[in-house]
Amino acid sequence: MHFFTLKDGELHAEDLKVADLAKEYGTPLYVYSAATLRRHFKAYDSAFTSLRHMTCYSVKANSNLSVLKLLAEMGAGMDIVSGGELHRALAAGVDPQKIVYSGVGKRTAEIREALEANILMFNVESQQELERIGSVAQEMGKTARISVRINPDVDPKTHPYISTGMKKNKFGLDLETSLATYRRAKELPAVEAVGIDCHIGSQLTTVEPFLEALEKILSFYQQLCDMGLCIEYIDLGGGLGITYDEEEPPHPAEFGEALAKRLADLPITLILEPGRSIAGNAGILVTEVVYTKQTPSKHFVIVDAAMNDLVRPSLYGSFHRIAEVAPAGRPEEDVDVVGPICESGDFLARDRQLPRVESGEFLACFSAGAYGFTMSSNYNSRPRACEIIVDGENVTVARRRETYDDLTALER
Ligand code: LLP
Repeated sequence: MHFFTLKDGELHAEDLKVADLAKEYGTPLYVYSAATLRRHFKAYDSAFTSLRHMTCYSVKANSNLSVLKLLAEMGAGMDIVSGGELHRALAAGVDPQKIVYSGVGKRTAEIREALEANILMFNVESQQELERIGSVAQEMGKTARISVRINPDVDPKTHPYISTGMKKNKFGLDLETSLATYRRAKELPAVEAVGIDCHIGSQLTTVEPFLEALEKILSFYQQLCDMGLCIEYIDLGGGLGITYDEEEPPHPAEFGEALAKRLADLPITLILEPGRSIAGNAGILVTEVVYTKQTPSKHFVIVDAAMNDLVRPSLYGSFHRIAEVAPAGRPEEDVDVVGPICESGDFLARDRQLPRVESGEFLACFSAGAYGFTMSSNYNSRPRACEIIVDGENVTVARRRETYDDLTALER
């Protein structure tokens, strides 16, 4: 559920007309709804109240400082994957003891920064990384808390680019190597193994793959106990899907219940790393129609947002619902919605039924709050979009639109 709704025939973001926002702040424009972010965070977090747990929002989904701050104020921890994300999380006021650090290529400086900040734990993805963390921590006179990211070899049944827990993926370690890695961790003086981690993929639309992974983790947990290693945290990563089109992903409550059944009696704290399920449907990308063009084979709607603003359709063939900001009940036609970038892969929608639209009208591209702005670029020297947050009838410019000077500011 989100707060982008039609009122009196016009699309609103909470209490404000999207068309007015587009006129005031320009397009392309990312509009986030604070009430939706809060609602999604609450729905997710409260799904696990029967368990000791920590909800560590995945910063990569939407890393705008204002978004992070809003979530941190609700008690969110954060899942980070770089020094840059650590910087953002700390700047947003996140408690370092609620920060977990994943990723296969943590560099020495990044490890040092995270130890300096005293984060909760590193999710270690290779044996070399464990050695590196151990020596950096020792040098600094600190103890690094770690978990090993297990690759449980489970098929999450999602897009191959966002499947991460299968044998062929670069993420985590197989069970046998993981066991050896925990043994090694025990020997390292500056390392303390406190958790088991796993993240099998993104945009999962059923709970079964999560449960399949959990079974493997639980038997692994038992093996560690038998080894005398008492783990405090089980981190199941993120991955719960959202509705872009007609998907019917499980509600967080259903996910929570399924996990609670298996975890209720264990003396552990469950960590979750949701990204998309918090931010995805809390944002839209608003764009203006620049031209329409009929060719012998296609009808193109050329808009001012492009693959540099929202790359998901081009990169994954993802579906994002597109609708007029002020629906006028005109007949539908079959169109491609494309951007101004010089690539045929620059489209927001292909072969889509859309009511006839004209130059100067605004369109909203839904479900753009996660992996939208964070994956944007300056390709074709396009200044990046403005991001605003609507809260009731208040607006915060969460990131101002880039200028031409911003484009060249770091160059000579
Ligand atoms: N934890 C880890 C270790 C992750 O790698 C990810 C996402 C998450 C948590 C959050 O997953 P979520 O709850 O958002 O599914 N750019 C792609 C998605 C890439 C996801 C990468 N990892 C997209 O636009 O669909």
